[in-house]
Amino acid sequence: MACIMMELWWKLSVCFFCYQVVSGRVKREGHYVAAVYEHQSILSPNPTALVDRQSALELMGRNLDIYEQQVAAAAGQGAQIIVFPEDGIHGFNFTRRSIYPYLDLVLHLHSVKWNPCREPYLFNDTEVLQRLSCMALKNKIFLVANLGTKQPCEHIDPHCPSDGRYQFNTNVVFNDYGMLVATYRKSNLYFEYAFDAPPEADYILFDTPFAGKFGMFTCFDILFFEPAVNLVRQYNVKQVVYPTAWMNQLPLLSAVEFQQAFATAFNINILAANIHHPTLGMTGSGIYTPLKSFIYHNMESYGGKLIVAEIPVITPDYKTNLESNKIFRENLYHSYTMFTSTSMDDQVCYKEGQEALCRVSEKGNEESSPIFYAEMMYDNFTFVPVQENKGELKVCANTLCCYLNYQRAVLTDELYALGVFDGLHTVHGTYYVQACALVKCGGLCFSTCGQEVTDATALIDFQLWANMSTPYIFPLLLTSGITLDFADHMGWKNNHYFISKNRTSSGLLTAALYGRWYEKD
Ligand SMILES: *[C@@H]1O[C@H](CO)[C@@H](O)[C@H](O)[C@H]1NC(C)=O
Ligand SMILES: *[C@@H]1O[C@H](CO)[C@@H](O)[C@H](O)[C@H]1NC(C)=O
Ligand SMILES: *[C@@H]1O[C@H](CO)[C@@H](O)[C@H](O)[C@H]1NC(C)=O
Ligand SMILES: *[C@@H]1O[C@H](CO)[C@@H](O)[C@H](O)[C@H]1NC(C)=O
Ligand SMILES: *[C@@H]1O[C@H](CO)[C@@H](O)[C@H](O)[C@H]1NC(C)=O
Repeated sequence: MACIMMELWWKLSVCFFCYQVVSGRVKREGHYVAAVYEHQSILSPNPTALVDRQSALELMGRNLDIYEQQVAAAAGQGAQIIVFPEDGIHGFNFTRRSIYPYLDLVLHLHSVKWNPCREPYLFNDTEVLQRLSCMALKNKIFLVANLGTKQPCEHIDPHCPSDGRYQFNTNVVFNDYGMLVATYRKSNLYFEYAFDAPPEADYILFDTPFAGKFGMFTCFDILFFEPAVNLVRQYNVKQVVYPTAWMNQLPLLSAVEFQQAFATAFNINILAANIHHPTLGMTGSGIYTPLKSFIYHNMESYGGKLIVAEIPVITPDYKTNLESNKIFRENLYHSYTMFTSTSMDDQVCYKEGQEALCRVSEKGNEESSPIFYAEMMYDNFTFVPVQENKGELKVCANTLCCYLNYQRAVLTDELYALGVFDGLHTVHGTYYVQACALVKCGGLCFSTCGQEVTDATALIDFQLWANMSTPYIFPLLLTSGITLDFADHMGWKNNHYFISKNRTSSGLLTAALYGRWYEKD
């Protein structure tokens, strides 16, 4: 983390003496109150069936009833903006035809100033927009929601689909008068056959009186340069609203883990709202600042969750971590050596009971090298085990070398490994990843490294660094029970990116540098 600057900024911005009273609630100067709602969407029992508009509105109306309660609850706690998740109103798993009755008409014209609550007669098929607009107006709050939209097109338009209309996965923003102030069409669709990507990516900003401009994008967009990263960089965006319907994937891509990593990488605030659907692995919402997160992750129980937090406005002159590579004064320990230990023959498993089972699959490694391969997130990672109470490790793959300096603070018999991957990820999306990761393995066999694990008790003090080829590095620090921690230090030093942490607040699950090398996608 850009520690020196961050601490200074935090102290400056936490100004305890200048209070002001806004809508019955005391607010600190330079702060605003944000809300996100993790919504358990009421889903169509048969999303591929063709229904009429009336039935579609009925189903969406049940979700909007819940939105209405939550907007009132958030406003009652002083929230100035509320964000709802992707697919929250209509659900998912539609076909292109079956979603049609669920779509509102939205013309993506930048110049239209329209208040759907006050001028409902201007356009047909805008019932959802009207309800959302009225919620914003009635509760005097900025409201961000995601819905399906349609836009007729002519066949002279070369991108116009053969059925004569675009169908977009769209975020809409209403200001506190209910005015529709911004629409954003998702670019990076995640196998959403019901929707079209816009011919050109939208760069969407909207202005607020309480925190200046916000940027926005949706779900899978967060992993790509266009438009998410480019928007944040080009327009110097410091606040982002982010509706998502994210299926968690450990150890590197659980929702809260990556949302926080994006906020810390760019030193921005993110208001992220996810769907709540544990059986599909969907949960994980939060309000993130570069230094503190307010998160919700719950795989155990059903129901929605409103998060409200007062957070500082980040001003545009504030540097991002990606840019600030000179302010780190860490004395990185550079005397690392290639890890070569004793023969692995007797070390494949730590516990005797499992030895036979694991040996069969792993005996092939007759060399004394401790390096082994295991699949993590569908990628072939190169690993070395973390076997001592303290030490230094190095593991390389392709052009990327990953280094670890560690000391176990709480000794347990859990197996950890240091893994590296430098290559094109091709399952559930195609994108180039450079990752250097310290992970807790699923069991005591090497083959379990890379598996999804949710609990840990070991505390490990570490410095982790790698010679990344991309400046786009998302630092992950995930702890037991899918909780988050913040690194003590992070940044560039001698052409290596590093993070370090002593004493995580609970057991260590994942500490990683997740790099995206967009040019190689
Ligand atoms: C939606 O589709 C996914 C994958 O095709 C499937 O696993 C899931 O059960 C479906 N969900 C619903 C609610 O139909
Ligand atoms: C809305 O639909 C009605 C009935 O189909 C039609 O008569 C009317 O012209 C439409 N209004 C607009 C603004 O398109
Ligand atoms: C993983 O990569 C290593 C080194 O390139 C290779 O030897 C091994 O066969 C790969 N494993 C799989 C499952 O592809
Ligand atoms: C990373 O370091 C390794 C080992 O020194 C080296 O072989 C590799 O070329 C380096 N990669 C880059 C991109 O500099
Ligand atoms: C972190 O721990 C390492 C050893 O585990 C120690 O050398 C270092 O001084 C500690 N750093 C801080 C900031 O406490």
